[in-house]
Amino acid sequence: MSDAMDAVTRDDHDAAPASTAVAVGDRAALHRGAPPGEPLLAATDLVAGYLPGVDILNGCNLVLHPGELVGIIGPNGAGKSTLLKSLFGLVPVRSGSVTLGGEAITNLRADHLVRRGVGFVPQTNNVFPSLTIEENLQMGAYQAPRKFNERFEFVADLFPTLGERRKQRAGSLSGGERQMVAMARALMMEPTVLLLDEPSAGLSPVKQDETFLRTRRINKAGVSVVIVEQNARRALQICDRGYVLDQGRNAYSGPGRDLMHDPKVIQLYLGTLATDVESAARRPDEKGTPPTGA
Ligand SMILES: Nc1ncnc2c1ncn2[C@@H]1O[C@H](COP(=O)(O)OP(=O)(O)O)[C@@H](O)[C@H]1O
Ligand SMILES: [Mg+2]
Repeated sequence: MSDAMDAVTRDDHDAAPASTAVAVGDRAALHRGAPPGEPLLAATDLVAGYLPGVDILNGCNLVLHPGELVGIIGPNGAGKSTLLKSLFGLVPVRSGSVTLGGEAITNLRADHLVRRGVGFVPQTNNVFPSLTIEENLQMGAYQAPRKFNERFEFVADLFPTLGERRKQRAGSLSGGERQMVAMARALMMEPTVLLLDEPSAGLSPVKQDETFLRTRRINKAGVSVVIVEQNARRALQICDRGYVLDQGRNAYSGPGRDLMHDPKVIQLYLGTLATDVESAARRPDEKGTPPTGA
């Protein structure tokens, strides 16, 4: 069972007709590698879309257990952002369910979800450019203004730059700094679950790395995280588990490391020339050669 292929779930990737939800005989396999116990957040067979009659999610499943950092990867247009938005009440769920701590939260409004401990950082337009850093963070805490000072201290510890430059307008910040403001704003309400949509998009490799490290730190601080990432390989390196979405349904899932080394996942979603930094360091002679998964 140590073969990576055994550890990665393939969920009817090629054969499923458009109208079927994820065809999984073994539901447990869909969330392989998840810790025992009740998930904190669970999406079951989600069908969702923007326009009447057009489903973008065709039966998506995801669980997030307390303390986990879970990644969602997949090609452009796969429905990754739509999945996050449907978890956060921003895209109508047509069938299926979302639960938080065992309670149904399907189609609940975003502000209610924030109050229940869910934070969301959208992919774009995630700061108010004309407001200062501090004002952006106040917007994040508007439902609990008395918490502001305590939470400001918490986020300023994670992102010292924000504390030092609290009076600076967000519009004048670099992309990486704006991303920090967006994450910090979502953290102001002390979420138990943080949904991050491509936090590294548009950043330099160094800034991307900082974003991943910070995400890890937020997770270590006790926040359970779902992160959507285009930088799939890097995301899988920091994630406990990953889900590959394709055409609005689960294609593969499993522990991050297993997905990263699975030949099918590499071929279809990670690119044959992309080499895992860690395995390259271990086996410098194999640079550029995709791991075999054996
Ligand atoms: N606001 C919208 N209205 C209509 N269709 C949309 C909207 N946003 C995204 N879509 C469509 O939903 C599909 C999935 O998009 P998205 O979830 O953004 O993919 P990903 O984040 O995986 O790149 C795409 O076909 C896209 O065109
Ligand atoms: Mg997206």
